[in-house]
Parts: sequence; structure tokens; C-alpha cells
Amino acid sequence: MKAMIVTYGCQMNEYDTHLVQSQLVSFGADIVDSVDVADFVLLNTCAIRGKPVEKVRSLLGDLRKIRARRPLVIGMMGCLAQLEEGQQMARKFGVDILLGPGSLLDIGKALESNERFWGLAFRDELHDHVPPAPAGQLQAHLTIMRGCDHHCTYCIVPTTRGPQVSRHPDDILRELDSLLVAGVQEVTLLGQNVNAYGVDQGARVGGYPSFANLLRLVGRSGVRRVKFTTSHPMNFTEDVAAAMADTPAICEYVHLPVQSGSSRVLRRMAREYTREDYLRHVADIRKHLPHAVLATDIIVGFPGETEEDFQDTLSLYDEVGFDSAYMFAYSPRPGTPSYKHFDDLPREVKTERLERLIARQKEWSARKNAAKVGTIQELLLRGEAHDSGFLEGHTRGNHPTVVPKAVGVTGPGVHLARIEHATPHMMYATLVDSAGNALPELPKLNPEAAALTSPLAMA
Ligand code: SAH
Ligand code: SF4
Ligand code: F3S
Repeated sequence: MKAMIVTYGCQMNEYDTHLVQSQLVSFGADIVDSVDVADFVLLNTCAIRGKPVEKVRSLLGDLRKIRARRPLVIGMMGCLAQLEEGQQMARKFGVDILLGPGSLLDIGKALESNERFWGLAFRDELHDHVPPAPAGQLQAHLTIMRGCDHHCTYCIVPTTRGPQVSRHPDDILRELDSLLVAGVQEVTLLGQNVNAYGVDQGARVGGYPSFANLLRLVGRSGVRRVKFTTSHPMNFTEDVAAAMADTPAICEYVHLPVQSGSSRVLRRMAREYTREDYLRHVADIRKHLPHAVLATDIIVGFPGETEEDFQDTLSLYDEVGFDSAYMFAYSPRPGTPSYKHFDDLPREVKTERLERLIARQKEWSARKNAAKVGTIQELLLRGEAHDSGFLEGHTRGNHPTVVPKAVGVTGPGVHLARIEHATPHMMYATLVDSAGNALPELPKLNPEAAALTSPLAMA
């Protein structure tokens, strides 16, 4: 079988793609990256906003056309698969296999079945299952919990991914070990709300450390860099900031979505914190980690958001100074509590607010990144950049960075670099040794010598 998985959505979906892909490989499948050669195409779907949903609808249409000409198994997994909206689409386009986020391990059964197979249960086995480490990668995701117990009024995730279930620390550490053996240098712990790790286990909490202590456990395992996402401000405790400060492997990067700077809007979103609470968390983080890099998520145009509410978001921006932000226009999702409110802001207002916010964030990213010029940063280099003389990677603070190759550093690895130049979205650096001296550049190819040895010159 030649199988292809197309992934939409967040890092949790990327993790799940890896999990299902490794199952497919264990059944003898070849993983391919073109629909033209695939006989099984599996869409890993997202339902967070209207756009990814429409994308899947149009892809399913394309796949159905291909199947009219030749045999093709069509599958759908991930968040949209769990929703009635997705199942209707699946029926309409004749999807053969449909797996919700809790039923991924049914993939084997689904492929053996001769009829349409739909798996929608939330199964705990998923937590005991340790997928093989990704081959040849320095970075990996590690799921520490699934689902979400919050009920933010705009959000579909509690419906698609079910209630929060934390993974047992032994399973987390087992997976971490296999990643370390495979040479992984940076691990990102994943959950919708990692700060609430373990709280769903209630009385059984004995075996489950707090998130801060889980961070310490993971950080002391020998892994070089640890990141985590996402933190919900309501469950953020100062101890998490303290754990970050006392455990060197934990990167000083915090992704703490605020969603709005207006307490009135936050209340209507059911975020369960106020603007002031959020600012207190930021102060705690800065107290323990003065150089912490802060990222956030924002939704503009929530139903009933006034210009004044939006001004509160802009002023929160200036009070905090985020290094980066993921900014979205509110997208009404059927089945969420806020759906019944009229999506009352005209599209132009939402777009205009989003543009103003993006412009403000660009200013802050420019300012924050410029302040890093001249500093030495540890880069995890993933491989060649678009220009083959360069490598691309990211800092501990998640800044995308580009460096020219140097003697001894021509491929993936973790290296120090001095930031030479910064734009709002990219940093440009040179590789240095531990004393801060630039590594020698690669010898420049002499154009005349190159001409002599080129196949054209010999012909
Ligand atoms: N669990 C994370 C967020 C997961 S969803 C948290 O609570 O922080 C990722 C982001 O998508 C959210 O932070 C939010 O900013 C955005 N989002 C979620 N639902 C949305 C909607 N209906 N419209 C627009 N953006 C949305
Ligand atoms: Fe959605 Fe809120 Fe849960 Fe995040 S915390 S996944 S925004 S319901
Ligand atoms: Fe992620 Fe989208 Fe689901 S953001 S949790 S894949 S709805």
C-alpha cells in the first residue's frame, strides 16, 4: 500500500499524523508525498476556524474525482472527523475510513475492514502507546495530555477532542527515552492546557506530578531543550516559571494565549481570568525569567467586541510587549456556545482590526528582535535554507534564524551563533564558537577551478 497523510491544524495533529504514519509503516505501507502515486489518502483535519474546514471540503471533492478514474481509499481523521459537520462531508464524498482524535489506533482494523469504517470513541490506549521516534530529526513533539476541560465559548476543541486526560508520567518518560536514543535534541510537550496536567486524575493524583514538576523531570532527563505548548493563563502558576528558571534545559519561551485585552470580552469568552490576572502572570514570568520570550494568541471581532474593547487589546500589547503572536479573526463554529450569539461584526471591521493588530505586533517583533542583535543564541539547525549556502533553524526563544554554513557546520545540529541582523520575522546570524569567535567561513568556490571540473567544460 502507498499511503499519504495530509495534515491541517496544530502541533497535536502533527503528532497524531506521526503516530498514524508509524502504524501504517508497521503494517508494511510505503509513505508517499504525492496523491498521484498514493492508493490511500488520509486527511488529518482541523475544525478550529471555517477556513481549514472549507479546505478539507474542497480536497475531498478533488479526491472523489480522482477515485472516479482509478481505485483510491479515502480517509479522514482528526478534529473535523469527530464532528457531525465532518461526518456529513464524509457521507457526501464517500469517505471510506473516518477516525476521530480518540480512535487513531483503530487504523489497522479500519484498513482490514471491507466496509466503511468509522471510529469515534475516545480510547485510553492511545496514552500507553509509544510511537517510534521520528527518524533523523532533531526535534520532536511529545503529547502529555489529550482533550480539554475548559469551555471557552468560541472554541470547538472540547467537542472534537473530548475531556482532558493526562498521560501517565511513566509513558511520557518512556517516549522521551526513545526520542533521546534516536538523537532528538528538542522536545515540545503538547497539550491544550499543559498547566492543568494531572488535575483530571483527581484522587489518583498521587502518581501524577504537577506540570511544574513534570517539567523538572523532563528537563533533567538529558534532553538538551524542552518547550511546551499551550499554557492556559487560568492554570498558570508561579511554580511553572520557577521550574523554568531552575531547570536549564527548559527554554525561556512561553506561549500564553490571552485572546483579548478586555476583561469584559474575556468574561464573555469564559476564559476565567481578567486582564489584570494575565498581567500578573506576565510579571511572575519576568520575575523568574527576565529574558523570557513571550508569545500569545489573539482573537479579534468576538461577538459584541466594541472599538473600546479592541483598544484594550492594543493597550495590553503595549503593556506586555509580545515577541510574537498568532492573530485570528473570530470564526463562528457551529456547536460552540458563542455560535448562538449573532456574529455581529461586519467582516470589514474584523479585517480592519486584525490588520491594525498585525501592524502593532510587527512593531513589537521588530523592536524585540532588534534587541537581540549582538547577542549569542543557541540555534537548533534543521537543515539547508532556501539558499543552499545557508542553514535554517530557531533559537531557544523560537525565533526563526538563518546562518551561512561554516567549516564543520554544514548540516543539522545545535550550535551557537551571534545575531547580526533582525527583521520582525527573521533573524540573521553567524556561527560562533563557545568563546564567541566566528567560525571560519567555508572556502569560496573558485569560479575558474569550478569551470575546469564542471561536466560542461569536459564535454
Ligand atoms: N488550548 C489553547 C488554544 C487552542 S486553539 C488555548 O486555550 O490557549 C488555538 C487558537 O485558535 C486559540 O488560542 C484561539 O486564539 C484560536 N481560536 C480558537 N477558536 C477560534 C475561533 N472560533 N475563531 C477564531 N480563532 C479561534
Ligand atoms: Fe479551546 Fe479554551 Fe480549551 Fe483552549 S482552553 S482548547 S481555547 S476550550
Ligand atoms: Fe488542533 Fe485544529 Fe483540532 S487547532 S486541536 S487540529 S481543531
